[in-house]
Amino acid sequence: SNAIADGVWRYSAALPFDDGVSLPEGGTPLHEVPRLEEELGVDRLRVKHEGMNPTGSFKDRGMTVGVRVAEKVGVDRLACASTGNTSAALSAYGARAGLETLVLLPAGKVAAGKIAQASLHGARILEVDGNFDRCLDIVQNLADRGEAYLLNSLNPFRLEGQKTIGLEILEEFRADEGTYPDRIVLPVGNAGNTAALYKAFRELVESGALDESDVPKLTGVQAAGSAPMVEAVEEGWDDIQRWEDVETIATAIRIGNPVNAPKALPGIRETGGTAVAVSDEQITAAQRDLAGEGVGVEPASAASVAGLRKLRERGVVDADEQVVCLTTGHLLKDPDAAAEAGSDPEPVPDDTDAVLDLLAE
Ligand code: F0G
Repeated sequence: SNAIADGVWRYSAALPFDDGVSLPEGGTPLHEVPRLEEELGVDRLRVKHEGMNPTGSFKDRGMTVGVRVAEKVGVDRLACASTGNTSAALSAYGARAGLETLVLLPAGKVAAGKIAQASLHGARILEVDGNFDRCLDIVQNLADRGEAYLLNSLNPFRLEGQKTIGLEILEEFRADEGTYPDRIVLPVGNAGNTAALYKAFRELVESGALDESDVPKLTGVQAAGSAPMVEAVEEGWDDIQRWEDVETIATAIRIGNPVNAPKALPGIRETGGTAVAVSDEQITAAQRDLAGEGVGVEPASAASVAGLRKLRERGVVDADEQVVCLTTGHLLKDPDAAAEAGSDPEPVPDDTDAVLDLLAE
């Protein structure tokens, strides 16, 4: 069957069920980006654009599984803390399943498109006077008290669905290039994807479907103002130390307490990968570069390309490497950041000569 057409449930053999609450999700493009490939100086660069999922981010892959579990268990209320995308996805999948949805968001730190999605899909939205990590503390407390079913990436069923990002990358890259990628570079917030991809690759190796030497190096990228995973990798720690104050233009990964770190750090280490921090300016430059290839992503997503550029400059990534960058969310998620990074519209009178004069300037 066709990998693109079938999406997440193509890989049901690797998932806990045969089907889920589906919109449908997965089957996202693996773009060629020839100018960026040339400029960064790697043998092959592909961009796996998860912004092309139904609600515009990879979260849909987790929700198709997680909300099916909630249905089966028979819960009254779904809940998540979110920097935005999780809330958009949960609201849509919750609506699809006809379940009540509660989302806790850090006030003033969630991009406009994401709040609009949660709102229209009918979630109850609480804006917390605190950062994402505090929102997650509270949602965990609600779940502990039996008030809600938690659908953050602490929920292992979410990560089962997100494994399919890794499965699709391997299958598609192999079909196109005849090999597996040497490295996958991805933005890190709670490190759910890092943990999920590592689990997917381990399961393939254990089943004999993938040679240990073909496992891609998992390479995480964080914003410099929010980089506890980078700190833990550099220090060789087994878990992160929580950062209380975090700031970045990439609000999706404005996270000081990556809850999946204990599962993700071994993945980075044992695949021979690494982690790197990038500035907001580097993120915006990478967002422009991707847009220049027709690939529209939100700032957090562009962190992957910014991180690859930095690692090439440092000589950590070799010129002969075949690399896949993961872009996690769509440009329209954060229209304000896109408008800020792009060029301004030019006013002109409603007159052809005036337009021609302006073009001739
Ligand atoms: N990129 C985007 C666009 C995200 O929305 C997130 C996480 C990440 C990357 C980080 O992924 O947690 O697997 O390392 N967003 C969560 C949310 C926190 O609430 O939408 P991770």
